[in-house]
Amino acid sequence: MSKLSRAEMLQLLAITDKAELAELYRRAYAVKKQFVGTKVYFRGIVELSNVCKKNCYYCGIRSGNPKVEHFSLTKDEAVKSALWAYEQQYGSVVIQSGERDDAEFVDFIEDIVRTVRAKSNNELGITLSLGEQSEETYKRWFDAGAHRYLLRIESSNRELYAKLHPADHDWDKRVNCIRTLKKLGYQCGTGVMIGLPYQTLEHLVDDIMFFEAEDIDMIGMGPYIPHEDTPLAKALPDYNEEEHLELALKMIAVCRIALQDVNIASTTALQALKDDGREMGLLAGANIIMPNITETKYRGNYQLYKGKPCMDENANQCRGCLETRITSIGEEIGYAQWGDSPHYKG
Ligand code: 5AD
Ligand code: SF4
Ligand code: FES
Repeated sequence: MSKLSRAEMLQLLAITDKAELAELYRRAYAVKKQFVGTKVYFRGIVELSNVCKKNCYYCGIRSGNPKVEHFSLTKDEAVKSALWAYEQQYGSVVIQSGERDDAEFVDFIEDIVRTVRAKSNNELGITLSLGEQSEETYKRWFDAGAHRYLLRIESSNRELYAKLHPADHDWDKRVNCIRTLKKLGYQCGTGVMIGLPYQTLEHLVDDIMFFEAEDIDMIGMGPYIPHEDTPLAKALPDYNEEEHLELALKMIAVCRIALQDVNIASTTALQALKDDGREMGLLAGANIIMPNITETKYRGNYQLYKGKPCMDENANQCRGCLETRITSIGEEIGYAQWGDSPHYKG
């Protein structure tokens, strides 16, 4: 049961007074400390390819954006990145890519997962974030050694979802994917974008209720950030970075207070809006950081939104930078540990 009623969640999400905001973050931090502690776990992100068959109205690498220069890592490049993370004692990696479901792609991922598992003595955790797939594909990847999967629902409200996606992007199919992943034994993460056009605070409360109802283990949410080459950019002409950051932080805090023992990521999009946005996310209740470990030469081509940080940095620079940022707020990094969500009961 959620620790907060709908009315309480709504009231907390509506706070604007600075002192009340500080109190909300303090309260969320105390819940985080009690249920998941103050160790931050790293998930190194390998951005495998920006080829995507989908055409989400908000995303910079949508198939309908002719400006995207396509890239795909080779198997060796992907494995090398993942093993770099292993050597750095990151507990796990996330393999993320635009969505493809052709047989060649399914085989390719299976091969990478198996190779990374074997070359890391079965120690490196592997999370996949590769969109909607068939049950058979999810099962093959699970059997190859992936044990977590991230699939954001983007919005738990099907009408809002329909405004953000072309007609053939099916909300029900997405929910069914989440349920299939859980059934197969994956630790399952989902999340939403915060501050979307047409989105209300009630929608965000419903999102938290959705996370609870679907018994979600991990949450990755970030502020919506317009990308100029997308149809949705025009829908919010007076986008306000500060307000978006604040709403995203409130959402993290309310999620932490309501759901207590889940893993919550402090996502890169927070840092796109403010240099210390990810530290602010940790202080508002998040406990996971996903350092970018993609080779610098490909980073510019994986821009889902504008202003993504670390475009010219390499994996090693991000590691040092994040270490400084995290220790500066008095937290510790959980090196060489999976850092499973205590919510996940196997
Ligand atoms: N702003 C913020 N997040 C975005 N994503 C895609 N486009 C944007 C955007 N413009 C998020 C989606 C997707 C994740 C990989 O990136 O939530 O699931
Ligand atoms: Fe593809 Fe994901 Fe972007 Fe949608 S949000 S266009 S599925 S990469
Ligand atoms: Fe990449 Fe700071 S996190 S350089």
